[in-house]
Amino acid sequence: MVKICCIGAGYVGGPTMAVIALKCPSIEVAVVDISVSRINAWNSDQLPIYEPGLDGVVKECRGRNLFFSTDVEKHVSEADIVFVSVNTPTKTRGLGAGKAADLTYWESAARMIADVSKSDKIVVEKSTVPVKTAEAIEKILTHNSKGIKFQILSNPEFLAEGTAIKDLFNPDRVLIGGRETPEGQKAISTLKAVYAHWVPEDRILTTNLWSAELSKLAANAFLAQRISSVNAISALCEATGANVSQVAYSVGTDSRIGPKFLNASVGFGGSCFQKDILNLVYICECNGLPEVAEYWKQVIKINDYQKNRFVNRVVASMFNTVSNKKIAVLGFAFKKDTGDTRETPAIDVCKGLLGDKARLSIYDPQVSEDQIQRDLTLSKFEWDHPTHLQPMSPTTVKQVSVVWDAYEATKEAHAVCILTEWDEFKTLDYQRIYDNMQKPAFIFDGRNVVDVDKLRDIGFIVFSIGKPLDPWLKDMPAVA
Ligand code: UDX
Ligand code: UDX
Ligand code: ADP
Repeated sequence: MVKICCIGAGYVGGPTMAVIALKCPSIEVAVVDISVSRINAWNSDQLPIYEPGLDGVVKECRGRNLFFSTDVEKHVSEADIVFVSVNTPTKTRGLGAGKAADLTYWESAARMIADVSKSDKIVVEKSTVPVKTAEAIEKILTHNSKGIKFQILSNPEFLAEGTAIKDLFNPDRVLIGGRETPEGQKAISTLKAVYAHWVPEDRILTTNLWSAELSKLAANAFLAQRISSVNAISALCEATGANVSQVAYSVGTDSRIGPKFLNASVGFGGSCFQKDILNLVYICECNGLPEVAEYWKQVIKINDYQKNRFVNRVVASMFNTVSNKKIAVLGFAFKKDTGDTRETPAIDVCKGLLGDKARLSIYDPQVSEDQIQRDLTLSKFEWDHPTHLQPMSPTTVKQVSVVWDAYEATKEAHAVCILTEWDEFKTLDYQRIYDNMQKPAFIFDGRNVVDVDKLRDIGFIVFSIGKPLDPWLKDMPAVA
């Protein structure tokens, strides 16, 4: 029986290993983590992450051929294949601060693997890492190996949160990079055989190590670039009277461009896009390619611009002040169908509104009050000019309440800001919401989820990203 161990039971490691266990009953899969609370949660009925379909998969395999454990060393030493899926945040201090990936967790995992291994192993990079990380890891492993042979593979994961199980069941492609030596090719075949249990062979791509590592960074950069492109166009739509949905649809029907991933929004979030682009920027700079670095930086700059623009629009529309006004925030997660708030645009928008002294009432179906308070109080690290900004003061935090119902959040509010595209926001009783709000009642839709005409008929003043402006907003001061 092949044994797999995955170090890191997070958003990537957990779901990926659960699906491997489901699809490969002949393989024993152990997911290990240093966080006791995370492993306890994986072993309970309340999994540590919210992901549609995940509960069913875990229930079917847990205890059969899927195990969650904190006994990292035991499971690593017994495994034939070790996936490494630990976090690789952006460095916040020292060389490359604000851009480079922090590989501390990766390095300590690699040293531990070398320490405890008693048999040859394939070590698989699963978390996104800078190009050439495999080479560094290989050095750590071989210099500490006591004669044991390691083969390094890069097998980046392309799943998106909220659709992780669907993406894992039916991936566009599985990418495996390895050394071009006979041993490297053999390791590639071993990993390929795991995925071949359910992924058609022609969708399993094999490349050299560096291509696999760079493909992941490039794919995320291209995806984020599409959103910044459509968001840049959304600003122009508002200025000209074009409708961004119509423009995106027309552009997307060109088969060379394609229709997906062209939804204008308040900005992209999530743990990957910004981090991976900053990584790419840093790698370009280190390789003497400042023009290329500058090109990709713009993708993040437009994303920051889009979030600022949204806050400015809210404040400008409401007579240039939101001081002490109640603003309902619907949605805090970085996208629908996840409880994850890493880099969510809601953090920046809420901080912007709090900076103008608004009172916020926040509702998200999957994000806890604790998490929201933590996100709004933690000091933010500015990628552009790396300094830790001052954390929110305790008085500012008092301006925030977290409630468990959209109607409660909007009661007596002056304005509603929709920041995540949860399906339930499409079918709210907006007449009821309007009746219970202060007048004039504003809706700022950062995700294009509401029916603008219907809401205007009810009496709302509506702003929706990239849509022709409400006559009310046209008279308000220009937005930066
Ligand atoms: C992304 C990649 O899609 C995935 O392949 C990679 O493995 C990890 O990073 P994820 O961040 O989980 O996945 O979600 P994704 O669906 O890509 O959304 C990222 C952000 O972009 C979200 O904030 C989302 O709301 C936003 N977005 C996405 C838009 O604003 N408009 C779109 O058209 C699509
Ligand atoms: C373009 C648009 O494709 C077309 O829809 C529009 O109506 C007019 O402008 P055209 O300029 O005739 O058409 O040719 P196109 O095939 O788009 O190529 C433009 C340039 O891009 C060429 O120099 C081509 O060599 C280059 N190109 C294209 C690349 O370098 N790489 C590619 O992958 C594709
Ligand atoms: P991702 O979104 O990439 O999956 P997460 O932060 O959700 O990232 O998960 C990474 C996990 O890796 C965390 O649960 C963390 O505790 C775990 N981890 C980090 N370093 C180690 C290590 N040396 N050994 C075991 N687990 C680790």
